[in-house]
Amino acid sequence: MHVCVFSLLLCSVSVALTVFNMSEEHDPCPLGYFPCGNLSSCLPQLLHCNGVDDCGNQADEDNCGDNNGWPHLFDKYFGMPSKDAGTKSTTCLLALVPAECQCRDLELDCNGAHFKDIPMVSTNATMMSLQRNRLRKLNADMFIKYQNLQKLYLQHNRIKVVEPYAFRGLYNLTRLYLSHNRISSLMPGVFQDLHKLEWLILENNKIHHISSLTFSGLSSLVLLVLLNNALTSVDDICLEMPRLNWLDMEGNQMEIVDNRTFWSCSMLTVLVLQRNRISHIHEQAFFLLRKLGELDLSSNRIEKISPDLFVNLGDLLQLNISYNPIQELQVDHFDKLHKLKSLSIEGIEIGNIHRRMFEPLKNLTHMQVFLFFFFKCQSFNLYLQT
Ligand SMILES: *[C@@H]1O[C@H](CO)[C@@H](O)[C@H](O)[C@H]1NC(C)=O
Ligand SMILES: *[C@@H]1O[C@H](CO)[C@@H](O)[C@H](O)[C@H]1NC(C)=O
Ligand SMILES: *[C@@H]1O[C@H](CO)[C@@H](O)[C@H](O)[C@H]1NC(C)=O
Ligand SMILES: *[C@@H]1O[C@H](CO)[C@@H](O)[C@H](O)[C@H]1NC(C)=O
Ligand SMILES: *[C@@H]1O[C@H](CO)[C@@H](O)[C@H](O)[C@H]1NC(C)=O
Ligand SMILES: *[C@@H]1O[C@H](CO)[C@@H](O)[C@H](O)[C@H]1NC(C)=O
Ligand SMILES: *[C@@H]1O[C@H](CO)[C@@H](O)[C@H](O)[C@H]1NC(C)=O
Repeated sequence: MHVCVFSLLLCSVSVALTVFNMSEEHDPCPLGYFPCGNLSSCLPQLLHCNGVDDCGNQADEDNCGDNNGWPHLFDKYFGMPSKDAGTKSTTCLLALVPAECQCRDLELDCNGAHFKDIPMVSTNATMMSLQRNRLRKLNADMFIKYQNLQKLYLQHNRIKVVEPYAFRGLYNLTRLYLSHNRISSLMPGVFQDLHKLEWLILENNKIHHISSLTFSGLSSLVLLVLLNNALTSVDDICLEMPRLNWLDMEGNQMEIVDNRTFWSCSMLTVLVLQRNRISHIHEQAFFLLRKLGELDLSSNRIEKISPDLFVNLGDLLQLNISYNPIQELQVDHFDKLHKLKSLSIEGIEIGNIHRRMFEPLKNLTHMQVFLFFFFKCQSFNLYLQT
């Protein structure tokens, strides 16, 4: 018994040292992470505007209805700098504003106003923030008067029903936040007028079924966040979103990823499938995702990874397959991942870890490993110490 504990300790210590000293010193945030304002820390994925000060300096929560802070950084990353920054008036340019709301330029902020319906204001409003209100249903043509809206923030309401024509006429909308509501389904065509929409944030709802036609019309969408919903499967999710760049499906109930799931997602650079129930991935599931830079498959139920799964992912920088019951990996499993900088294989009990697996990964600067078992330690130490 004592011998076993001792050897475990030895392993953990040498692994920890390796992890830290493989990190680059002046690395900016890794792909999928963003700097917290002027602090040196990085913000993981999409913690912006979620009501929690994840950064510690409010950088991810500041100006959520604005073009600064975290959203601004995201725009910079995607090369779409805001057009109107700096030219906004500090006075209100809307004629009518309810007493519960604040107004600046053509932007309306009615957060926490206890509204059960959307307020009546001048039709030239470009931004409407109705966070933390009591909206329950988005009716057809609800926003039809407000065709100049570019940003619409509806998070933290009680929205259960979104009628098919709820967003009709919003041809200028670029950002739509519907997170933290009670939406369980979205009809095909519900977003069909939103040709300029770039971000669609649907996290923390109860969405259990969507079809590719749910997203028809979204020809400009780059960011789709479906974090923490109840999806069990999707079929060719990108079919109607040819520009989709970033897809976050963390925390759903996906069981199978087949060769159709991401068939049209050829522009994706970030795909997050963490915390699902995936047990099977078709060997060609990622075949057309040639631009992928980050792939997160961690915390699933994957037992087998096809030797060909990663063959076309020559641009991949970051791969996370931690916390899966993977039985074995081929020695050449990672061979095509020439550009990989970060590989996470925490909590995997593979018996055949071999230094040959990592030899083609010349650019690896970060590796996260934690071994749970005793008897395989020696072979791994061999890799670390040579
Ligand atoms: C990494 O290496 C540096 C010297 O290059 C050393 O000062 C530092 O303590 C090491 N980090 C860890 C976590 O051991
Ligand atoms: C970051 O910026 C704020 C003001 O924008 C300033 O008060 C703070 O000192 C800065 N922090 C650092 C670490 O530069
Ligand atoms: C917006 O519309 C209101 C009337 O609805 C008008 O008084 C105001 O001047 C308009 N503002 C701009 C900037 O067009
Ligand atoms: C909104 O869209 C219409 C039609 O596409 C366009 O004429 C109008 O200028 C746009 N308004 C803004 C504020 O972009
Ligand atoms: C998906 O895989 C199945 C068999 O695994 C194959 O019959 C089918 O043609 C493939 N579909 C596409 C679009 O490649
Ligand atoms: C990989 O995934 C695990 C579990 O989801 C997470 O704890 C870890 O931080 C991830 N690694 C990286 C480098 O993001
Ligand atoms: C490794 O990284 C360097 C610098 O980022 C790059 O020039 C080189 O092409 C990379 N190697 C491969 C095999 O991609």
